[in-house]
Amino acid sequence: MRKLKILWRMLKHRKAVSSLLSSHLSLLEGDGVADALGGLTAEEEEGVVEAVRAAISDRQGGGDKVLVEFGTLFGLTTQLLAETAPSGTTILTVDNFCWNPFGLPPDLHRQFTEKVLRPYLNTGRVKLIGCDSAAFRERYDGAAPALVFLDADHGYAAVRDEIVWAKEKNAVVISGHDYGNPLFGVTRAVDEAFPEGVKHKGMVWWKPTAER
Ligand SMILES: C[S@@+](CC[C@H](N)C(=O)[O-])C[C@H]1O[C@@H](n2cnc3c(N)ncnc32)[C@H](O)[C@@H]1O
Repeated sequence: MRKLKILWRMLKHRKAVSSLLSSHLSLLEGDGVADALGGLTAEEEEGVVEAVRAAISDRQGGGDKVLVEFGTLFGLTTQLLAETAPSGTTILTVDNFCWNPFGLPPDLHRQFTEKVLRPYLNTGRVKLIGCDSAAFRERYDGAAPALVFLDADHGYAAVRDEIVWAKEKNAVVISGHDYGNPLFGVTRAVDEAFPEGVKHKGMVWWKPTAER
């Protein structure tokens, strides 16, 4: 009877169980651990640092800057953005909490990420915006972002639309993860948007938009 109940619950939550199993198998097999955790390698973190420095340089004048990150996950890259950008920079990080490698339900995922980011949220340096990327883009009426970092939905159309938005908003640098990852549509969207090429480190790519 107990086994039947477990089986029933697994069937009921089969989508979540299958996604969790797939992430866990990747972790057990060792390859692509960073992929399975959704995070960045050390080399890719260097790419993020370079992208932030290109986005916020002395040449671009004073004034407080805004960085926009699509895809917070647990806030690890958000922390790197916050540590790398000069004071006075605000990081808006957007996530709809639809995916995480540990199969946490969206509410718990959000609570966990809020705890990770708590010191930054408390100072107001980071603002965590719990909504879909498209909804955020539609209602954004803030300043031109210094950097837009794309690491949410990795499908071709989603990345294409985020790049179009970032260009329309006059982002100084557009950047993101999973360039060259054959599993996703990121590479096609990036190459179409920037046929002249982008800089990259590992799978982190970036493009200063004023550069032709
Ligand atoms: C690969 S993870 C992000 C990893 C994170 N940038 C890091 O380096 O640690 C993708 C995240 O994007 C979120 N996500 C996926 N599609 C989204 C969408 N359409 N709008 C907002 N967030 C989305 C998922 O919930 C997940 O937390």
